[in-house]
Amino acid sequence: MNYRHAFHAGNVGDVLKHMVQIHVLAHLRAKAKPFAVIDTHAGIGAYDLTGPAAIRTGEWRHGLGRLWGAADPPEAVRAYLDHVRAIQEELGATIYPGSPLISAHHLRPGDRMVAVERHPEDYAVLADLLGRAPGVIVREGDGYAALAALLPPAERRGLILIDPPFEEREEYQALALALGRAHRRFATGVYMLWYPIKDPGAVAVMRQMIQDSAVPRVLAVELTVRPTTVLAGLAGCGLILVNPPWRLEETLREALPWLAARLETTPGAGGWSLEWLRGEA
Ligand SMILES: C[S@@+](CC[C@H](N)C(=O)[O-])C[C@H]1O[C@@H](n2cnc3c(N)ncnc32)[C@H](O)[C@@H]1O
Repeated sequence: MNYRHAFHAGNVGDVLKHMVQIHVLAHLRAKAKPFAVIDTHAGIGAYDLTGPAAIRTGEWRHGLGRLWGAADPPEAVRAYLDHVRAIQEELGATIYPGSPLISAHHLRPGDRMVAVERHPEDYAVLADLLGRAPGVIVREGDGYAALAALLPPAERRGLILIDPPFEEREEYQALALALGRAHRRFATGVYMLWYPIKDPGAVAVMRQMIQDSAVPRVLAVELTVRPTTVLAGLAGCGLILVNPPWRLEETLREALPWLAARLETTPGAGGWSLEWLRGEA
């Protein structure tokens, strides 16, 4: 439990994850029927980009920091930047929103979110930020275990975001297994599973496990900014998307090449991919 997201807030991983999250939430809001969000690994919800952790790594400067002021960004990037800016206008110009804060801002009366965080200190900060927000429940504990109790949601529509810290290599397999279990309880939900690309072998095993599973409609998205060698550290990140909204693939085909070119840290190393791991059942 050493991982603290404050060191990484606003980095390349957050850009991809939160951009897609905002697209999915807009899709859920397009219908009047209420929806639920379950955020299994929630973090603290708001991060100060001028705080000691963010300053120490400077990661956000290679993510969000490279997008500010871009002329004519693709639609999904623009929506992401607009949302970050709207939250900054409310909470302060140096704040970066985490996934539960982004979801909380999209809830309408009748919509609901459960955010789970295991780290006791981070849980306390998140509970302070969102514990009294309308429709939001903040829980302390293991997000994987919580899924069993929370699925299926009564609303029968919603987003399940699984965003673990990947402190251990086994996390890739844990993610694939958690998806299988969750999907058996709630097959129609939109799932977003985030993973780092720093160990290509482990990523390949996870993707194969998902391909071999009974879960249909799985789109894998990857964005790389450094060469994909283990020694180079984090090369990029990926998302496993189950039941993605129908316009998301097209939206990503526009945004990913732009992001890869803008965010690459090694010239020529920026890359992206979109691949259906499994189609319709
Ligand atoms: C990558 S961060 C989450 C970032 C957040 N989803 C966002 O996008 O703003 C992972 C978080 O999971 C927490 N965590 C680690 N293991 C957990 C578990 N088993 N259940 C719930 N939370 C866990 C960590 O303390 C950390 O805050």
